[in-house]
Amino acid sequence: MTEISENTNSSAGNVPLVELRNISISFGGIHAVNNASVELNAGEVVALVGHNGAGKSTLIKILSGAYKRDAGSIYVQGEEAHIANPRDAKRYGIETIYQTLALADNVDAAANLFLGRELRTRWGTLDDAAMESATRRVMGRLNPRFQRFKEPVSSLSGGQRQSVAIARAILFNARILIMDEPTAALGPQETAQVSDLVRQLKADGIGIFLISHDIHDVFDLADRIVVMKNGQVVGTARTSDVTEDEVLGMIILGKCPPGAVPGPGALQVATAA
Ligand SMILES: Nc1ncnc2c1ncn2[C@@H]1O[C@H](COP(=O)(O)OP(=O)(O)OP(=O)(O)O)[C@@H](O)[C@H]1O
Ligand SMILES: [Mg+2]
Repeated sequence: MTEISENTNSSAGNVPLVELRNISISFGGIHAVNNASVELNAGEVVALVGHNGAGKSTLIKILSGAYKRDAGSIYVQGEEAHIANPRDAKRYGIETIYQTLALADNVDAAANLFLGRELRTRWGTLDDAAMESATRRVMGRLNPRFQRFKEPVSSLSGGQRQSVAIARAILFNARILIMDEPTAALGPQETAQVSDLVRQLKADGIGIFLISHDIHDVFDLADRIVVMKNGQVVGTARTSDVTEDEVLGMIILGKCPPGAVPGPGALQVATAA
């Protein structure tokens, strides 16, 4: 029987949970990601922000094994990670939730959590009771108000569907969660629900890369912000060290404020002699 992970914060000392170092990838002549370095700690939310085409999804797809990088390396808890495909990434506890949640609409939450990895009794039949109780346990932790265990997920709200997708991702030991625009298709109430989920995951010690175009969500949820522009990192800042206007200046102009650590993509300001 599969055990639900406790996701305790087990990263030793100051070693980041994940480190992407000097990552580059080109498509044809375009440097989609150009020498980008990003770190994520356990229990931390790092927002990746930037204009359309800045390279956010591409960088994250290298971590999730969907794209093969041209250069750079990935470290998980200080050890170099060999990630060549999504299966490798899952082995390191890296799970991705895409905007299209890829749920099976006509079956219930438990069937979705165990899709393709169903629990069986010793007689080889589906162990529905074990799957339902595991589902209740993990959903109870994420979204205690959720009660619609017997209904197909097509009948659930957007926020509830998001919690089913997250439960499925964390059921099997996810330590690193990538969320690419998780609230783009949701209304305000459901967005608030997803924010609660993110806070819960954080409290459980999971590290989260959050890609979002919503600057308010970013300031609400992220511990640190990484701004990308034209495939490069403009800068990295603790959310408490920068203002929304300053982050917008990083996104639009590539201008790095005093509270941020500049990256290779920071606008070089000519200093007056
Ligand atoms: N599979 C691909 N083939 C060719 N070019 C690609 C591919 N994937 C991404 N690109 C290009 O790489 C660049 C970065 O795209 P990416 O999707 O990472 O941006 P993004 O920051 O996620 O933007 P958005 O906010 O619109 O999602 C763009 O110029 C895009 O056209
Ligand atoms: Mg994207």
